[in-house]
Amino acid sequence: MPRSVRLVPVSAAFLALALTACDGGVHGTPGGYGVQDPYFPRAGNGGYDVTHYGLTLSYEPGRHHLTGTAVITARATKDLSAFDLDLRGMDVDAVTVEGRGAHWNRAGQELTVRPHDDLDEGETFEATVRYSGTPETITDPDGSKEGWLRTADGALALGEPTGSMAWFPGNHHPSDKASYDITVTVPKGLQAVSNGEPSRQNTTGGRTTFVWHTAEPMASYLATVAIGHYDIARTTTEDGLPVYVAVDPTQRAASREVLAKIPEVMKWEEYNFGPYPFASTGAIVDRAEDAGYALETQTRPVFPGAPDTATLVHELAHQWYGDSVTPESWRDMWLSESFATYAEWLWREDHGGDSAQQTFTALYDGTSDEVDDPDAIWAFPPAKPSSAAHISDPPVYQRGAMVLHKIRQKVGDDTFYDIIQGWAAAHRYGNASTADFTAYVEKRAPHEDFGTIWADWLYGEGKPDRP
Ligand code: TRP
Ligand code: ZN
Repeated sequence: MPRSVRLVPVSAAFLALALTACDGGVHGTPGGYGVQDPYFPRAGNGGYDVTHYGLTLSYEPGRHHLTGTAVITARATKDLSAFDLDLRGMDVDAVTVEGRGAHWNRAGQELTVRPHDDLDEGETFEATVRYSGTPETITDPDGSKEGWLRTADGALALGEPTGSMAWFPGNHHPSDKASYDITVTVPKGLQAVSNGEPSRQNTTGGRTTFVWHTAEPMASYLATVAIGHYDIARTTTEDGLPVYVAVDPTQRAASREVLAKIPEVMKWEEYNFGPYPFASTGAIVDRAEDAGYALETQTRPVFPGAPDTATLVHELAHQWYGDSVTPESWRDMWLSESFATYAEWLWREDHGGDSAQQTFTALYDGTSDEVDDPDAIWAFPPAKPSSAAHISDPPVYQRGAMVLHKIRQKVGDDTFYDIIQGWAAAHRYGNASTADFTAYVEKRAPHEDFGTIWADWLYGEGKPDRP
C-alpha cells in the first residue's frame, strides 16, 4: 500500500497507443515499470496496490524445479490498460485477470500484463500467474547473494533488496505491503517453513504440503521460504505469543543456548520498543554458506548458521523497525538498520557491557572493533548512501545508530524512549521516510534544536566535528 508512489512517465509510444485506443470504452493507460526508487529504479510498479498474495508453490530439490501459482489481489490506483509485475527468470505459463486470459509480455524483470478489460481506478482485481522453472540466485550490487539459494538439503528464499522476484511475481518494492498466504509442497520427509503462522499440513502421494499465513502487512523483501530438514520447536512466550523455531540439525548444538533466549529478548524489546506488532515470532537457522548474512524476514528471521546473541537482538529488533515500520524507499534503509544496530548497543548497556555512550565514543575515535575499517563509517551520510552497492555499509548501520544516540544525548532517556516507542506506534504496519522521522522527532521534543544533528550526522558528508 504505497503512500507516495510516483509514476514513471509513460513513454510517448505508449501514450499514442492509449490515445488511439480511446474509443469503445477503453480508457486506461499502462501503470508503469517502477516507482522511481533512487537505488532500484525498476523495483515495484505503478498503478496499483497489492493487498494480498496467495502463493502456491511446489519444489523438487533434486531438479531445482519450482512450480508456482501467484494469486495477487490488488487495487487499481488509476485507470489501467496494462500493469507490470516484477519477476526474474522462471517461465510464465499463463496469466489471468479477473478470471479471463490476459496478454502478457516479458522484458528483463518486467512482466507486463494487459487484461482483457481495462481496470478502473479504485477497482479491486485479482491477477493469477502460473509459472515454473529453476529459480535464480541473484547477485546484489554489493556482491551478496539473494533470491533462491540452494542449500545442502533444500533451498532458502531471501529477498533483500530485490530477491523475492526470483520466486514469485509481484510489486517488489518495500512501499507496497500486503498480507500473504504461502503454501509449499515438498517431497515427503522435507519441511517447508515460512512467515507467520502454520495451519494444516497434509501428506499425500509422497509429498507434504505446508500452509503459512501472514495477516499483518509485509514488504515482499521480508517474505521467506526455507525448505529442508529442520528440528522444529513450537513454544510460547510468557505472554502466550507463539514461538516457532526451525533449526537445521547440523546447527542444533551451536544454536541451542542463543535460541533459548528468544523469549527474554522479546520481553526486553517489548519493554523498550512497545507492543510486538505480529502474531508469532521465532527463527530459522539454516546452513546457507551462500547467504553469509542474517535477514529480518517477518516474524521469523533467518540466520545462515547459529547466531550470536547480538545478531538475534538485531534481527528481532527489526520486527519493530524495518518490518512493521518499513522504509519508504531503499534510500531510507538507515531507518531500519540504525534501530537494529542501536538495539544491540542498548542490549549490551543493559546486560553489563559497554554503555551506548562508550560504543559511540569508540566508533567516533576509531577504536571500535565493530567495524573493520574505522574510516568506513564516514564514507557517506546515513540518509544518502553513495550507490546501491553501499546500502548495507557502516554509514547506514553504525553511523545511523550514532544519529539515534545523538538524539538520545539531546533529549535524555525518558523522551528518547518515548520517541522510539512512539515512532513504532505511529507508523505501525506502514512505511516511513527520513523526512517523516525528523518531523516526528521534532514534534516530540518541540523545544530542542536538532538542526546540527540532521545537517552533520544524518545528511552531512564526512566526519562531524566533535561536539
Ligand atoms: N538487513 C540485513 C540485516 O542487517 C542485512 C542484509 C542482508 C542486507 N541482505 C541485505 C542489507 C541486502 C541490505 C541489502 O539484518
Ligand atoms: Zn539489520
